[in-house]
Parts: sequence; C-alpha cells; structure tokens
Amino acid sequence: MLIVLSLGGSILAKDLNPDRFLKYSEALRKLSEKHKLLVVTGGGEAARNYIATARAVGADEVTCDFIGIDITRLNARLLISALGTAAHPEIPASYLEAAKALTSGKIVVMGGITPGQTTDAVSAILAEFLRADLLTIATSIDGVYSADPNSDPDAVKYDIISPEELINIVMSIEMKAGSKSPVDPVAAKIIERCKLDALVMDGRDPALLEKVLDEKTAEKSAISAGTWITSRK
Ligand code: UTP
Repeated sequence: MLIVLSLGGSILAKDLNPDRFLKYSEALRKLSEKHKLLVVTGGGEAARNYIATARAVGADEVTCDFIGIDITRLNARLLISALGTAAHPEIPASYLEAAKALTSGKIVVMGGITPGQTTDAVSAILAEFLRADLLTIATSIDGVYSADPNSDPDAVKYDIISPEELINIVMSIEMKAGSKSPVDPVAAKIIERCKLDALVMDGRDPALLEKVLDEKTAEKSAISAGTWITSRK
C-alpha cells in the first residue's frame, strides 16, 4: 500500500524539538515496514515567521511563497536526518522526481513545489499522480469542522463528508479573516477533481498517527479518528 502523508509543520516542527522529529521518524519507520511512504512536510511556525518578515520588508506574495517552500524543505531535511538510512536522501523538487525517488524503496520526504498553494495541495497531487491507497492530512485539529473551532464555539465536527461539502466548508472558513481552514482550498479542489478519498486527522501523537494509518490502510470504512472525505458516502 502507498500512503501519502501531509505532515503539518505545526505538529512536526513545533519548537524545533529534536525529540519530536525522532518520535515521528520512529513511527514512520515502523509504518514503512508494511507500506510505501511519501511524506510531505509543512513549514509550521518558522514558515509563518519568515513570511511575515518578508512581507514586512516589502516582498511580493510569490517571493513569500518561495520562502515558505524553503522552510518546508528544511523541515523535510530535518526529518530525513532523523530517519537516517530509512529515508531517501534527496528531497524531490517535482512530482516526477517524487515518483522516481519512490522506486528506491525508502521513505520519500519532500516539501513544497510551487507558489500559490500549501503542502496539502502537493500531497493531494502526489496521491492522484502516484495512485496512492491513502491520502492523509495530519494536522493539529482532529478533523474538519463546520466552522473554525478555534473561533466558533458552535462548530461541529464531521466524521464523513463529500469533496463538494469540503470545498463549501473550506471556502466559507477562508472568507473570514484570521481563520484557518484544516485543508487548503487548492487541495480541496484537487481532492474533488480527482475523486480522491482523504483522511484529515489530528497528527500530534506520532504513535497514534502510525496506528491509525496502518489500520485505515487495511479498513478504510472504519471511522474512529478524524474526518473522511469521500465521494462514496
Ligand atoms: P505549509 O504547507 O506549511 O502551509 O506551507 P500551512 O498551511 O501553514 O501548514 P502547517 O502550518 O505547516 O500545517 C507554508 C507556506 O509555504 C508556501 C506557502 O506560502 C505556504 O503558506 N508553499 C508551500 C508554497 O507556496 N507552495 C507549496 O507547494 C508549499
């Protein structure tokens, strides 16, 4: 089974704690004994800080995106270092390079690719392109809500939604300044276009992430963690 995992920078690189990188790498190494793995790391707080400074000095949005991409790749480099020989040593800079890297049989780790999106979109494109068995977006909240749960106490969590419903939710959250959607709108659109099944889950506990991914790959319909996005509702 091929798993494409979007691993949010806000969970992987929180405080740049080496122990956290090692715990995620241990979980990924165990998963890789049974499954092929492609991990796309996000930029987290460091990317946000760099982008804020770039904006403040007058950088345009595309330059800010390039800076964000650089940080996602730094996090990929850190995760590769923690994985040691279990990881493919190079960071693919394109979707084709990712396909080639997977033939190494090692865990492939990469970051962003092109401006105008986030690593969720990179992961969705890779899942379609490489015909992954499972696309998972691991983030710091436990699924998709009807509104931003950080700012709206009435927000309700969904267990299962269609890609069209995801787009509606994501667009309504994105419209409100300061709110943050669990899935980037470009990724949501790709999930809809390609009719992908995806799982959005809380990935803050590496051991739980490993367990859920292993189980979900075996039995997609069992819902115990996060939100399933599927057109086969
Ligand atoms: P992330 O994927 O980390 O965004 O990319 P995020 O939504 O903030 O995710 P977390 O916090 O890690 O979970 C960081 C930034 O890098 C640029 C964008 O500016 C994005 O906001 N980026 C990333 C791109 O422009 N293209 C990419 O393919 C990836």
